[in-house]
Amino acid sequence: MRNARGLATSPAYTVVVINNDCRERFRRRNNTGTMADALSQRDQLQFFRENPPCECRQLAPAKLIVGNPMAKKPRQPIAVVTGAASGIGKAAALRFVSEGYRVAALDRSKPGLARLKRTKAGQGMETYLCDLAETAALTPLAKQIVSEMGAPRTVVNNAGVCLYDSITELTDETWLCSLNVNLVAAAALARGFVPAMKRVKGAAIVNVVSRNALSSSPRAAAYDASKAGLLALTRTLCVELGEHGIRVNAVLPGFIDTPVHGDLLKDQVYAENYLKLIPLKRFGTSEDMANIIYFLASDESSFISGQGIIADGGQISGQSYEGIFGKRKSLQRRQDTNG
Ligand SMILES: NC(=O)c1ccc[n+]([C@@H]2O[C@H](COP(=O)([O-])OP(=O)(O)OC[C@H]3O[C@@H](n4cnc5c(N)ncnc54)[C@H](O)[C@@H]3O)[C@@H](O)[C@H]2O)c1
Repeated sequence: MRNARGLATSPAYTVVVINNDCRERFRRRNNTGTMADALSQRDQLQFFRENPPCECRQLAPAKLIVGNPMAKKPRQPIAVVTGAASGIGKAAALRFVSEGYRVAALDRSKPGLARLKRTKAGQGMETYLCDLAETAALTPLAKQIVSEMGAPRTVVNNAGVCLYDSITELTDETWLCSLNVNLVAAAALARGFVPAMKRVKGAAIVNVVSRNALSSSPRAAAYDASKAGLLALTRTLCVELGEHGIRVNAVLPGFIDTPVHGDLLKDQVYAENYLKLIPLKRFGTSEDMANIIYFLASDESSFISGQGIIADGGQISGQSYEGIFGKRKSLQRRQDTNG
């Protein structure tokens, strides 16, 4: 809030930012260089009122005089995002920076993190190279992030691996990798972050699950089970951490156009047929998901915990038979009969 003279004010205190010219002029006029000590706040403001604002430019090589010197600057909130180098995690990390957060961006991709850091928003991030499959390293990593950046307000467990194979071919190694990255990593990070998050007002965890937690595909046993586990963890942590004011929610994306799908969408037949399954007739975007992640992290969702928001363009609700089979007389008759 600013008053008519361009001075920043709030009901609690008034802030005046001055430059060296202004300070010198004040010193000459009042025979002192220490304004805050020499004059009452009212007298200081009187001085600035009598001097043109051009001499009190904001953000020049500046000194702050704060009416209440004990008043603390609000701390910049911290968001931790895993899998931040690509797709949904990247969009979420960028969104948190644009909302004024400092972001801890975790990923196993060194070039991906370097690219992220080079963006303008990258200045608002610290990057941490890590492999979430190495779960033993994650609780110490979380503690390191707390000591370097402070307690997070938000942790987004987004990174995931999508390892498909038939049940007869899925190896234990693939099972364990899927479970570690998609599920155990979230728990190991919570072990490190939660003690610090208990002290942060409005703290929230957001887990990026998948509609596959509710609706399966062939060859996806390890993926589906790991995501169903993450949804269950969301509910458990909601109940366990609620008394500390920490909310825990999930987003369950449908088909989102991200690099995880490789060249799949270049296959016209696949893409066109898949679209028939989505009532909204489009694939989701990373930004669609970042909107929901940010909503679930923000105070806009302050009474929501333990929930999973399915964001799949309506796919899980059902399909239009006409959309799949085209306009057919048989379907028309059925509709007539059923009213
Ligand atoms: N894209 C979709 O259609 C879709 C659908 C449902 C759920 N999801 C989920 O969304 C999340 C993000 O997927 P995306 O589509 O943005 O994929 P993506 O491939 O674009 O991004 C995933 C990121 O996670 C990182 N990552 C993967 N394994 C890691 C590990 N072991 N350690 C550290 N980082 C690791 C990758 O390096 C990458 O930067 C995943 O959990 C995925 O299961 C995606």
